[in-house]
Amino acid sequence: MDDTSHTNSPSRRRFLGGVALGGMGLVAGRAMAEGHAAGAPDPLITELQDWANGLGDGVDATPYGMPIRFEGDVIRRNVPWLTADPISSINFTPIHALDGTITPQGCAFERHHSGAIELAKEDYRLMINGLVDRPLVFTYADLERFPRVNHVYFCECAANTGMEWAGAQLNGAQFTHGMIHNMEYTGVKLSTLLEEAGVNPEGKWVYVEGADASSNGRSIPLEKAMDDVIVAFKANGEALRKEHGYPVRLVVPGWEGNMWVKWLRRIEVAAQAVESREETSKYTDTMADGTSRKWTWVMDAKSVVTSPSPQMPITHGPGPLVISGMAWSGRGKITRVDVSTDGGMNWQTARLAGEPGNKALTRFYLDTQWDGSEMLLQSRAIDETGYVQPTKEELRAVRGENSVYHNNCIQTWHVKTTGEAENVEVS
Ligand code: MTE
Ligand code: CO
Repeated sequence: MDDTSHTNSPSRRRFLGGVALGGMGLVAGRAMAEGHAAGAPDPLITELQDWANGLGDGVDATPYGMPIRFEGDVIRRNVPWLTADPISSINFTPIHALDGTITPQGCAFERHHSGAIELAKEDYRLMINGLVDRPLVFTYADLERFPRVNHVYFCECAANTGMEWAGAQLNGAQFTHGMIHNMEYTGVKLSTLLEEAGVNPEGKWVYVEGADASSNGRSIPLEKAMDDVIVAFKANGEALRKEHGYPVRLVVPGWEGNMWVKWLRRIEVAAQAVESREETSKYTDTMADGTSRKWTWVMDAKSVVTSPSPQMPITHGPGPLVISGMAWSGRGKITRVDVSTDGGMNWQTARLAGEPGNKALTRFYLDTQWDGSEMLLQSRAIDETGYVQPTKEELRAVRGENSVYHNNCIQTWHVKTTGEAENVEVS
């Protein structure tokens, strides 16, 4: 399993963050680890249960199904103190509790600048204007008559992990890494619509805006607009949910979430980026020396262990343990994910589940044996460009601690002997 191990200097094995060791009782599930094989008969096997002794719900009980009530805590969650009010706010995907790669829309994080609006298909219009031969207005029904594409892509807010720059802060993968979702989109390539309008040779940018009060106007280089951007109307097979931009949103593969304009209403072809408008130049990264990184659109390779993690403690004793997580890169495919259980001294190559997608989440597993001792659990993604996900120290050395956006550093969970896990830093 660890034939591709890599070793770093042991001097790095010092971890910070006020970690308290020991003193924890056994977690509830531990006593169950050996099962009932040798003990008293298990009534769940030997006794007739209620659910087998009567009838279940008829087919019309839930015309549109919801998760069973036992899964009721697998929901988006907000961190109330992060923003002043829930209208211009963010919540987080429960990535700790999901598996595979596709994010169900119902628990995919939301980010609105002026709330999620309700816009009917009948009232939907998309205008293309500016440096084009033919300014056009499309209805929803018009869009359905263009050739369609289907692609799975991740959408990550540039602020994901943004609260972790100065120190380990939020105790759960949902909160540290949950501003991400990964869906299969159906729609029309933006290039198809731009070709219909006829882009003039002076056109070098598109300015895209939404129908909500914030408009979320952004400038995208024409080259990207003509490459893989999608004007999408379905996600995971069904209509976009209101909160994700119903009836039409822009999908900008690999690029930061703020460019994925929801409730898309207008596309203006321009010679230059529209910068005079306040909304366009918000997403800059402040560097250690006070200068700014700007137009950092692509999301660099990143990964996180989702289980075990603070919200997903180990509830069994020593023995087989599945370590699971997800990796992604805005520059293409993930080629390898390494997992460390000792804070980055030694690495084992994880197993990628399925063919890694292009600019899409990849699931990884490390099927291992836990000896019951504490772990400093990390994952490290490598993408097809050869880029290696940096440590927090490496990233801080370049970007300082004043940044908010584009924190793609390696995450550490301190897994205790009890199986509980905590967000920490190693250095
Ligand atoms: N589009 C509009 N019209 N209004 C918005 O507030 N928020 C942006 C982007 N598109 C926004 C928008 C930001 S910052 C992000 S991260 C993504 O939408 C989030 O998409 P989601 O809410 O579907 O997760
Ligand atoms: Co965002």
